Amino acid sequence: MTEPAAQAQIIDGKVYAERLRGQVSEEVAQLKADHGLTPGLAVVLVGDDPASQIYVRSKGEHSKAVGMHSVTHRLPEATTQDELEALVRALNADPAIHGILVQLPLPKHLDEKAVLAILDPDKDVDGLTMVNAGRLASGLPGLYPCTPAGCMILLRETVGDLTGKRAVVVGRSMLVGRPVAQLLLQADCTVTIAHSRTQDLPAVCREADILVAAVGRPRMIRGDWIKPGAAVIDVGINRVPFDDPIKAAEGRTKVVGDVNFKEALKVAGWITPAPGGVGLMTVAVLLANTVSAAKRAAGLEI
Ligand code: GUN
Repeated sequence: MTEPAAQAQIIDGKVYAERLRGQVSEEVAQLKADHGLTPGLAVVLVGDDPASQIYVRSKGEHSKAVGMHSVTHRLPEATTQDELEALVRALNADPAIHGILVQLPLPKHLDEKAVLAILDPDKDVDGLTMVNAGRLASGLPGLYPCTPAGCMILLRETVGDLTGKRAVVVGRSMLVGRPVAQLLLQADCTVTIAHSRTQDLPAVCREADILVAAVGRPRMIRGDWIKPGAAVIDVGINRVPFDDPIKAAEGRTKVVGDVNFKEALKVAGWITPAPGGVGLMTVAVLLANTVSAAKRAAGLEI
């Protein structure tokens, strides 16, 4: 008899995201009952990018579902820098709002850095301001970016203790690559950040006990780049034509990750599907960050 082919355990993001949302929901109810405090989240969307509209709707729905005060500001594409900054300043000053998220990317005529520069770091539930990036890099408490924090929850729930593990992060974006590398370092991993200029990327990836793919290139990471038994976290959300030529000819597209899932499944120890993995964690962590921000604003222990 032949041995069955080894197969990675699939990390179901839905299970962990639901669990975290459940915890947030209980905490919101407790804060209302014990302190008369309702955590409030404001989401700002400028323009009509279709993907951003879907994300923003989901953030609004989930924040209401856990009992939060939820406000969504949908601004037209033609919004000026002054108008956007005036809204952010008003939200900074609004005591009912504890978390502010400005959906990215902004339309090209708007200056993202200038908007983040005026955002109150203690309401920056996306963890994108310089202050929170500095707190993270210094190992200080703060609001940390949602997708990276979601990656860490999945790793802790599956791999367990991460101490001393070799972690390779492919991608160096401000939204994912850099912050997830910082969080892995805080968890006592030995961390390498690889990117488009890295020499012999497959060999670097093969060293990883933990491989985080956040490059935005469909199925770039092949099965033979993965160390047998490694934990693979695929952050990629890439739209590609269907493999089926008939569907492709109709212009239909689907979402795939940065990892070649079929190949990786045979080598990895654990793997997140994309979609259905890390992406689902992002909103759940956003809600958790909003609760933390509300508690901090009220002087309660986090
Ligand atoms: N666009 C894609 N992902 C994110 C995110 O996590 N936060 C914000 N603000 N914009 C995004």
